[in-house]
Amino acid sequence: MNFSFQNRRSLLGFRLLLAGGLWLSPVGLSAAEPLEAKADIAGDQVGGTIDRHIYGHFAEHLGRCIYDGIWVGTDSTIPNTRGMRTDVIEALRAINIPNLRWPGGCFADDYHWRDGIGPPDQRPKRINIHWGQVIDTNAFGTHEFLDLCEQLGCEPYIAGNVGSGTPQEMRDWIEYMTFDGDSALANLRRRNGRDKPWRVRFFGVGNENWGCGGNMTPEYYADLYRRYATFCRDFSGNRLVRVACGAGGIDENWNRVVIDRAHAHMQAYSIHFYTVWPGWRDKTPATGFGEREWFAMLRECLNIPRAISDAEKNLDRVDPRKRIGLFVDEWGSWYRVEPSHPGWGLYQQNSLRDAILAGLTLHIFHDHCDRVKMANIAQTVNVLQAMILTEGERMLLTPTYWVFEMYKVHQDATRLPIVLESPDYEFEGEDMPALSASASRAKDGVVHVSLVNAHATAPIKLTAKLAGVKASAVAGRILTAENLDAHNTFDEPDRVKPTEFTGATLDGDTLTAEVPPRAVVMLRLQ
Ligand code: AHR
Repeated sequence: MNFSFQNRRSLLGFRLLLAGGLWLSPVGLSAAEPLEAKADIAGDQVGGTIDRHIYGHFAEHLGRCIYDGIWVGTDSTIPNTRGMRTDVIEALRAINIPNLRWPGGCFADDYHWRDGIGPPDQRPKRINIHWGQVIDTNAFGTHEFLDLCEQLGCEPYIAGNVGSGTPQEMRDWIEYMTFDGDSALANLRRRNGRDKPWRVRFFGVGNENWGCGGNMTPEYYADLYRRYATFCRDFSGNRLVRVACGAGGIDENWNRVVIDRAHAHMQAYSIHFYTVWPGWRDKTPATGFGEREWFAMLRECLNIPRAISDAEKNLDRVDPRKRIGLFVDEWGSWYRVEPSHPGWGLYQQNSLRDAILAGLTLHIFHDHCDRVKMANIAQTVNVLQAMILTEGERMLLTPTYWVFEMYKVHQDATRLPIVLESPDYEFEGEDMPALSASASRAKDGVVHVSLVNAHATAPIKLTAKLAGVKASAVAGRILTAENLDAHNTFDEPDRVKPTEFTGATLDGDTLTAEVPPRAVVMLRLQ
């Protein structure tokens, strides 16, 4: 579809409405007058580096994320490379997946790594106590995960067990994976088929230890953190980034206590933020919703800066030089499970709304890139706000996947500060900014500007002044659809997919873009 054409039709529709006719736009939603936005993009300034790890991912032993979604086993008829689905690997490589967090989530604090090494037929079957008490065969363990990361070309991020494990178990795991010398554990790894040690930089000391990871107080966790982290050692040139467990959402007390007591022993501090509306007990469906739910979820995700700022405030107090990274190592939308997949698998569809939510959230991470050094969307395949859904041998890419694909140009790019005047998106007496924008300069000098129009019905005309950007042309891509809950299905996997965007022009130092409603746009200025 030519989206500038679609936009013109919407504008025409609006004029018809003014002329007195009852008009419905081509998308079935009432059309609105284009809203005006203004921006100054400072291409002559440096607003930090957008760490590629902000585009990180998370795969837990939960539902069909690991088993089915990634691991099908070497005997499967589904094309695989050493047991890993080839289609999924290729799709994740195409978005430059920078890191993958594993094995949980809640699962991490009940995971004992020795269960997942050695001959697969001798590995013990265990109950996954957090996620439906299903039996985990341990077919997917340490060697498989680290092989997966090598196939993906990404860095592993392992979450260790504080809740039900010991400091010795944790230190042994690190030695098993990373020690190059002649020790019993390194030799066990060799006997299990891996001669060279792996490089494992990111290591989480527990997960949600205020909840499923042990229901601890912050004081108790902070002291345990110091103890466990003491035994997490750097071996053979592998330098660990020890990650402390932070708050879920906004928890000022947890942040203050853990950071005060344990900051000297951490290289990163993690928080989680899920977008759930109206609440944990009464989540809404992932599709089949109206504008009320569209607006509410998108407005809700804009609370994430509050969670980031509270952690930042505490980190700034003890670490003004920003040595400690803030990792948002679980984030995304959380809906009611699909009726077709009841139980604990947290399988949900993924619509255009989730793409908008992803774009808004990634812009927020960019804005905090002096402290936010990693983020991990939950989760990679078949769980929560997934990149990929699978059904037997079939696979589809979700609208959220396409945002990660469009935005990969921001990875490791220099952030360019933007001053944006956005119009309001008002709905039933509440409001939020309708437009969000982020700009960066890639290593090859190309400037990219991403735009998110969260408004369900109104197009936005953006006029941006550029300083210090040498470009004479603009090209673009857009992700949008006719319906708010547009999504891809196994029968129609390409319903929501980026297409060319021709609604932007560049005239000297003035960039103009006419962004249709409910759209994510990526512009390339060169
Ligand atoms: O991502 C699903 C769950 O959400 C994780 O296991 C847990 O850490 C969080 O509560």
